Amino acid sequence: MVLVVDCCIREEESRTRKLYLEYLKENNLEYEVLYLTKLNIKPLDKEMIKKRDMLVANKEYDNPMFDLAWQFNKADKIIVAAPYYDLSFPSLLKVYFENVSVLNINFTYSNKGELIGLAHAKELLYFSTIGGYLNGPHLGYEYVKALAEMFGINNTKNIYKEGLDI
Ligand SMILES: Cc1cc2nc3c(=O)[nH]c(=O)nc-3n(C[C@H](O)[C@H](O)[C@H](O)COP(=O)(O)O)c2cc1C
Repeated sequence: MVLVVDCCIREEESRTRKLYLEYLKENNLEYEVLYLTKLNIKPLDKEMIKKRDMLVANKEYDNPMFDLAWQFNKADKIIVAAPYYDLSFPSLLKVYFENVSVLNINFTYSNKGELIGLAHAKELLYFSTIGGYLNGPHLGYEYVKALAEMFGINNTKNIYKEGLDI
């Protein structure tokens, strides 16, 4: 199953959403969409970190706190869609990744301390639209690419349209 992580803040008006929907239609893919604007996810705070550490230490991986992490872990292919905001992406996407980036679910370490990715997806596509023109690296994509590699997803693609507000 393809998991679409939709971080399109402007929802129906979003051109980024339009861009990934065109791709899904062209490729006739079955997919499920996670609308981040509809989720009630919060940035990690000290209580959440304490709880998470306790659950991981006790191997209580079936706790609902880890539902988003497992959904990400099990997807065969992942699409992340986020407009280009302030040289990267909306903060809501970072909050989502804070929920997904869980030790022993999406990454772990070997005895030698090497990072091992645990996500099952073979590919991650990153869709964005940009008001101006990129003048250097796409920092939103580069960040997500690095994180995907940490989760063991080494095949990533950057699909974007730029200059849309000019
Ligand atoms: C809060 C905010 C920050 C933005 N930051 C940038 C930026 O750093 N560089 C840029 O070229 N455009 C920027 N834009 C313009 C958006 O990238 C552009 O309008 C994009 O197409 C919005 O995507 P959407 O139609 O999916 O909402 C910003 C827009 C907003 C609302």
